[in-house]
Amino acid sequence: MRLLINGRHHEIEHGDEPLLWVLRDELGLTGTRYGCGVGICGCCTVLLAGRPTRSCQLTAAEVGERPVVTLEGLAERGPDGKVVALHPVQQAFVETPLQCGWCLPGHVMTAVALLARDPDPDEATIAEAASPNLCRCGGYNTIKAAVARAAELAREA
Ligand code: FES
Ligand code: FES
Repeated sequence: MRLLINGRHHEIEHGDEPLLWVLRDELGLTGTRYGCGVGICGCCTVLLAGRPTRSCQLTAAEVGERPVVTLEGLAERGPDGKVVALHPVQQAFVETPLQCGWCLPGHVMTAVALLARDPDPDEATIAEAASPNLCRCGGYNTIKAAVARAAELAREA
C-alpha cells in the first residue's frame, strides 16, 4: 500500500502495523517518538490531514490516502533535501530548550496545528492545546513560552 508522508508517496509493506512503527522502522523517520504506546503521552503525535494524531493508535492501513506530516516534514528544504530554514515552531523550541526533550516532537507537532488554526493564541489557548501531551520533566511553562515565541516568529515571517 501507499502512504503520503511529508508530501511524498511511499510504498510500504506493513499496512497492519501502527503508523508509528511504519514511520520509524520502515521509513526511517525517527523524529516521531515512542513514549507509552497506548495513546496517553502524545510523544508519537503526527499531523493527519492537519490534525494532531497519535501515530501509535492507528494502523498505516487506517491512514489510507490522508496526508501525514511528521517532524521531518516541517522545515523548508533545498533541492538537495538539506534544511534551509526551520519551521517557526522548531526555531522557537531551539531558542527555548527543554530538559530531556523526549516529549518535544509531540509538542512541536501539536503547536504547528494550533498555529495553523490560530496564529495569535492567548496563554490559555496555548495551555489547552498543549495539555493532551505529557512532559515527564514538568516543562510545561517552558513549552508554553516556546509556543508563544513560535507564534511571534510565524507572524514576523
Ligand atoms: S506513544 Fe503514542 S501516545 Fe504515547
Ligand atoms: S522535557 Fe523531558 S519529557 Fe518533556
